[in-house]
Amino acid sequence: MQPGELTAWLETTDPERLRELWARADATRHEHVGDEVHLRGLVEISNHCRRHCTYCGLRADRPELERYRMDAEEILTIAHLAVRLGFGSLVLQSGEDPRLGVEFLEQVVRRIKALTPLAVTLSLGERSVDELARLRQAGADRYLLRFESSNRELFARIHPPGPSAARSRMELLAELRRLGYEVGSGVMVGIPGTSLEDLQRDLLTFRELGLDMIGVGPYIPHPATPMGSNPDQPDTGPTWSRELMTYNVIALSRLLCPRANIPATTALDALWPADGRELALCRGANVWMPNLTPLGYRARYEIYPRALPCDDSPERHVAEIARRLAALGRRVGRGPGASPSFADRRALGD
Ligand code: 5AD
Repeated sequence: MQPGELTAWLETTDPERLRELWARADATRHEHVGDEVHLRGLVEISNHCRRHCTYCGLRADRPELERYRMDAEEILTIAHLAVRLGFGSLVLQSGEDPRLGVEFLEQVVRRIKALTPLAVTLSLGERSVDELARLRQAGADRYLLRFESSNRELFARIHPPGPSAARSRMELLAELRRLGYEVGSGVMVGIPGTSLEDLQRDLLTFRELGLDMIGVGPYIPHPATPMGSNPDQPDTGPTWSRELMTYNVIALSRLLCPRANIPATTALDALWPADGRELALCRGANVWMPNLTPLGYRARYEIYPRALPCDDSPERHVAEIARRLAALGRRVGRGPGASPSFADRRALGD
């Protein structure tokens, strides 16, 4: 697909053309990753963060936010729960928390790998290459680090640099790949100031990076953040529908990276709980990440405002997901569910 063609697809609001795009994405999904939907247990292990990203509710300067950090036993309990629920992998996610030390993380990863068959995915923000190498050595299989926007100027504005002159996220993604991780990245759709050209470049970047996992969700304003507390941004707000655009970016991600794993993201569910996940799954996505974080902590892992479930039973939650998948003619995936793109790379010895 050529760049011009991409922009044309991104711009389209014609219902006929949209149906065609989504049908093509769905057929490509079916052909390359099949009808199974892999469930990943998500556990938010710490909401401490040293960064000041202007969009994120976990940013350092929110003194009113009660912070927590789970201990190893709590994390292991959730890993065992994930196994009991039939999941093939667990995602450990956190803010950029320096006190979540590498020794601690190594031990947790080693224990999960020794005691369970789970694939372990880390999503811990920007870490040093040395730490990433050690965690890979300890057995971590996958790493998620969204680059958020390929527009460098926009990225720098919303993402003030960390305390050290760390590598850029793009460089870290290349390192993660070199270290043998299955690599995931992605963007938020609808960050004020994003242009269609930016989104087009984001999509081409997914392909250039040869991503194994692509997470795309709508930007959700958080009132306690600089970006979210200023709703009147007439000159920077997008003219297009964030909802439509998110699905278009998901569908085009599938067409450009047919063998990647693509989740129906939590942010979609937060904004459009009735059918956000379903629509993504019918427009290219093939992964669902049920949140296994205990509710008391989850309430404080407030990246963006989101409703908490009243029912905290993971068993009932998974039964409900299975029912929703069956209604789409899909089924719950078995096993760790590595992306075919990663398996292809392995087979080529790359
Ligand atoms: N709206 C939507 N997504 C957000 N994220 C962070 N803040 C927001 C927000 N306000 C996403 C980022 C990050 C991921 C863990 O959550 O893309 O990489």
